[in-house]
Amino acid sequence: MKTATLETDRLILRPVSLDDAPAIQKHFNNWNVIKTLSTAVPWPYPDDGAFCFLNDILLPSIARNEAHSWAIVIKSNGDELTGLMTLRLVPDADGTHRGFWLAEPFWGQGYMTEAVCAVHDFAFNIVGMDKIVVANAVKNIGSRRVKEKTGAKYLGRCEIEHHEGGSKAELWEVTKASWSEAKKKLTY
Ligand SMILES: CC(C)(COP(=O)(O)OP(=O)(O)OC[C@H]1O[C@@H](n2cnc3c(N)ncnc32)[C@H](O)[C@@H]1OP(=O)(O)O)[C@@H](O)C(=O)NCCC(=O)NCCS
Repeated sequence: MKTATLETDRLILRPVSLDDAPAIQKHFNNWNVIKTLSTAVPWPYPDDGAFCFLNDILLPSIARNEAHSWAIVIKSNGDELTGLMTLRLVPDADGTHRGFWLAEPFWGQGYMTEAVCAVHDFAFNIVGMDKIVVANAVKNIGSRRVKEKTGAKYLGRCEIEHHEGGSKAELWEVTKASWSEAKKKLTY
């Protein structure tokens, strides 16, 4: 299935492309963005990190129908990618279906919660997924909070090595029912 462009009040989520490599390189190459991410992400971030990730890993997995991935565009900020959202139909090595990050200047304004809402509607209503398994480093309070606001139910601790040190992580599951319930009370 083709990745649809999704629109919310403040965001456009459009299918990511190789043209987004420079914006990913600019915003993702930031210790504050990467420090709580899995050590599968290279650090120091190579000069061609974004291009290689798109060209060798993400775009091929989309072509194999194993994932959908969107450039997160903030309408008031022009057309530039300011974050990335990936929904994996085939879970990664940690058993999870979703990954996201946002450029640091835009944190704390509800943007990722808003993006997740659009992706949950797409996942459950269009793709027909029955659950989305997600995880975050224990220290990643912002990511945990996005999950709590968008219907994720805590399953327990898991181990994912991340850059800041340690491997303590939290595992969650979102179902169509838990998302419907959360959506009723959601303000970004
Ligand atoms: C995690 C991340 C995506 C959140 O994006 P965001 O747009 O800032 O998220 P939102 O604004 O929608 O929600 C963040 C919530 O966490 C809260 N939060 C963030 N940091 C916090 C902290 N240190 N202590 C307490 N609450 C915190 C915010 O207050 C907000 O909750 P609220 O709406 O109840 O006030 C962003 O910080 C990021 O890209 N981080 C680096 C990459 C990353 O961690 N990706 C996820 C890997 S699992």
